[in-house]
Amino acid sequence: VTVYLDHNSTTPIRPEVRELYIELLDAQLGNASGSHAAGRRARAVVDDGRERIAAALGVPEEWVVFTSGGTEANNQALRGVLDNAGSGAAIATSTVEHSSVLQTALDLEQRGTKFLRVQVDQSGKIESDSLREALATPGLALLSIMTANNESGAVTPMAEVASIIDERGTERPLWHTDAVQALGKSPLAIADWGLDLVSLSAHKIGGPQGVGCLLRRPGIGIRPLLIGGGQESGARSGTENAAGIGACALAVQLAVEEEPTLSPRHLTFANELWHAVRLHVPDAKLVGPSLESPRLANTLNILFPGAEGHSLVARLDLEGLEASLGSACSSGALEASHVLLAMGYSDRQARAGLRLSMGRTTSHKDIHSAGDILGKTLQHVLPK
Ligand SMILES: Cc1ncc(COP(=O)(O)O)c(C=O)c1O
Repeated sequence: VTVYLDHNSTTPIRPEVRELYIELLDAQLGNASGSHAAGRRARAVVDDGRERIAAALGVPEEWVVFTSGGTEANNQALRGVLDNAGSGAAIATSTVEHSSVLQTALDLEQRGTKFLRVQVDQSGKIESDSLREALATPGLALLSIMTANNESGAVTPMAEVASIIDERGTERPLWHTDAVQALGKSPLAIADWGLDLVSLSAHKIGGPQGVGCLLRRPGIGIRPLLIGGGQESGARSGTENAAGIGACALAVQLAVEEEPTLSPRHLTFANELWHAVRLHVPDAKLVGPSLESPRLANTLNILFPGAEGHSLVARLDLEGLEASLGSACSSGALEASHVLLAMGYSDRQARAGLRLSMGRTTSHKDIHSAGDILGKTLQHVLPK
């Protein structure tokens, strides 16, 4: 038996979601733009999905634009706002954003957009002074700050960021958040925080891969990334992924409903696992917020002094524990984690952070086995 502790990378599809997904795939859904019964069936699924997501997250239905997932939603938010803002516009993001935000901002920078980097401290928390400095930039069109970090488990104090943005009064930029990792793991108060754009993805919460959405305040001007048939009220062309959208909506609804019970369970597991790790390796270091502070309870990122990240992950895999080094995208390459570097860790440390991320299906037995496997494996890989 293997223990899967890489839920921040992707999650197994939930049984209820799988059942609905298969039902929808078999329902002979037409093209949602079609005017026949098959088309109307698809349209009903898409409309119902929009309604469910809006209701679960407390935003009007018009906010929901379905996308192929978090990467597209992030690209759309950043490019959509900046392309519309004209020359001289600036963008600000934190230094620990997912690559789909950071690389997009870098690409915009290469094409003449001013790009401000908001710094974080060693726990991964946004530095208020750096945020204020970025916000004072003339022509700042968009601020993108993730709700929760996929590598460190740090959660942004969104109400605090909101009040710092409010200090700008009428000069406030649009505010986007990548809430892909926060959904289902940390409360989301989109309306209270005054967000303008929010990215979400289904496969991190037991939904299918390749579907998600961008929530956006309808009044704001964003240039569509995909143009063509004018679906999604012109915001995102392409035949709607009706079955995927139906499955995504159910996954979002369930994730929001279950978050209050899931997080405390994960915190208990996290404490147990961390305790087991410390028994075997007393000088192991927890990256990100302490277990007593607000954080994603499901995410433990650990540095083992002297361990080489890739061989540790490979060895754990052989022993039946599936984990990763920082973000999934970089685990194939030998690059250091930009998140750990931004948090002030050395290049060497930024190549060795072991990420263990739990999910809805993680059991107490999994945590127990993971502790055993870690103990056994670390004896072999750590210098004596
Ligand atoms: C914080 C964050 N944003 C965006 C994404 C990308 O989402 P998707 O895989 O749906 O493109 C991920 C997952 O890789 C993520 O962890």
